[in-house]
Amino acid sequence: NIVASQVEMHAKWGGIVPEAAARAHVEAILPVIQEALAEAGIQRPTALCVTSRPGLVGALAIGISATKALALGWGIPFLGVHHLEGHILSTFCQIHQEDAPPFPHLALVASGGHTEVVWVKAPGDYQIVAQTLDDAAGEALDKGARLLGLGYPGGRRIQEMAAEGNPKRYPLPQGVRNDPTHFSFSGVKTAMLRLVQREGDALSVPDAAASLQRAVVGALATKIDGLLEEFTEAKALTLVGGVAANLALRERLHSVATKRRLPDNAAMIGLAGSWRLAQGQRSDLSLDASPSGSLESLLN
Ligand code: KG4
Ligand code: ZN
Repeated sequence: NIVASQVEMHAKWGGIVPEAAARAHVEAILPVIQEALAEAGIQRPTALCVTSRPGLVGALAIGISATKALALGWGIPFLGVHHLEGHILSTFCQIHQEDAPPFPHLALVASGGHTEVVWVKAPGDYQIVAQTLDDAAGEALDKGARLLGLGYPGGRRIQEMAAEGNPKRYPLPQGVRNDPTHFSFSGVKTAMLRLVQREGDALSVPDAAASLQRAVVGALATKIDGLLEEFTEAKALTLVGGVAANLALRERLHSVATKRRLPDNAAMIGLAGSWRLAQGQRSDLSLDASPSGSLESLLN
């Protein structure tokens, strides 16, 4: 779980610049792998897992190239892993096995790039039951934070500001109503822009942050409430991805949600890949980075 954070660099640019991110990956990857091996106290792993999709291809390609080279050199197998499967199975990255969520369960994957509710019947058996038509929930928070001059990463700053604000001050749209299977966060983004333009210096930043958080959390929670009514066999609800860190969201869903939340980490990719490796799955040298890739079509 050694992570090379690029948050500082992204903060300087006000967001992720793909070229800069890819270059930073080149510089970080070997030191990170060396540190992970040193911490684990091993010289050569038995296999390697790497995120191959979906994501920024420039950054993914660095990880894939390094994986291929090391796997060839070490003579070990490797496997490309779907990032969202890593998120979904991250709830199993824990010491106490009894805390692992039972199947089937609903997983809300909410990050800077994704907003999906997945029906998880078993590892590898996923059905997307709700997804966003446009922006991701985290993206809405990040863009709102930028409009409010709160900087990057936005979600956490919005949460901190919101703690002192009135969430009912500025009513903002919560996306598509009467459509249980789709989120939409482009409306709230536009409404935030108009709000900032309209209010000018009179704008209360804490109230705007609280109102934005209320809109995003409300959109997520309303849809999930509906899905839980439909998926009565669900034995748990898990919240994964960066937005799952949001306290307001967790409070809202607390009664039905299992408590675990793990930020983006490397262990989740290794975990997701390791059971696939154990089933005999392997990638070969044709493994490529991809910006997209369906979670539902993953081979078992
Ligand atoms: O999963 P993640 O770390 O990275 C990927 O996007 O894959 O998610 C990052 C997202 C960002 O949009 C960030 O603003 C949001 O998670 N985030 C939060 C909080 N912490 C991070 N959103 C709301 N409340 C938070 N406390
Ligand atoms: Zn992620």
